Amino acid sequence: MKHLLSITDLDKKELTSLIDFATQIKANPALYQDKLSDKIIATLFFEPSTRTRLSFESAALRVGAKLIGFADASTSSTQKGETLEDTIKIVSGLADLIVMRHPASGAAKRAAAVSKVPVINAGDGSGEHPTQAMLDIFTIKENKKTLENLNIAFVGDLKNGRTVHSLSLGMAHFNPNYYFISPPSLAVPAEIKQALNLNKIKFSELTDWQKIAPQIDVLYMTRVQKERFNDVAEYESVKDAYILNANSARLFKSTCIFMHPLPRVTEISAEVDADPRAIYFDQARNGLWLRMALLISMKY
Ligand code: CP
Repeated sequence: MKHLLSITDLDKKELTSLIDFATQIKANPALYQDKLSDKIIATLFFEPSTRTRLSFESAALRVGAKLIGFADASTSSTQKGETLEDTIKIVSGLADLIVMRHPASGAAKRAAAVSKVPVINAGDGSGEHPTQAMLDIFTIKENKKTLENLNIAFVGDLKNGRTVHSLSLGMAHFNPNYYFISPPSLAVPAEIKQALNLNKIKFSELTDWQKIAPQIDVLYMTRVQKERFNDVAEYESVKDAYILNANSARLFKSTCIFMHPLPRVTEISAEVDADPRAIYFDQARNGLWLRMALLISMKY
């Protein structure tokens, strides 16, 4: 692999191999502590992050790599008007790999086009977030013991939710049945549906979960992304469309798992955290092992 820009850059074999590798690392992380001791990794975060940046940085340190980069683009020369392309040309002369998050969809592809070193897309606007999908798939496998033939409900902001875009494309290798549940204004983008149709993936679009809840194996909640709205009134009208709380959680079967890429706002009540089906904090933690596996597997 050179760059990782989309989850579709990995075929089924590559994806399952990485998940198997992450499972091995999770069982014995100390075995890998010197794997990248000759590498410098740059983390360039032009958009806020807690989990992705810190888990990439922790993963890099745990495999012996050194780090450079920024968590806030306002401290970089972007503030002086430097283009993304110029920033990447400079950083790719200083580091062996670039992990980048950017608010513009397609920014990772632009970076890869001018980079001398591999670029990992750590989220590009409303585009994709492939490493989130990889850790999500790792977590599904760990909890359900299979990836095949699952009923998966994606709920919330499916238009702007890049994790939904990547996960729905990544799980398409495993004969899923999808339910996309959102207000009509936040429906999953046409290009994702086209890709699913091309791969003959079964999916339906709904505005509520009442009827389908008892069949769901994986409930994937998402935050309505305030930062992507131009009109605050429009955001207010949809922000609380779906709330998973102790009451609504009763609709779902005992073997369903509750996932969320986090951060959450109001869409999952804190009272759900103690429910054994709620695995979103374990899911976030799995990002560490998955990102260690990915960093070691990249072609430098
Ligand atoms: N899930 C995720 O991407 O979280 P951060 O925005 O905190 O990185």
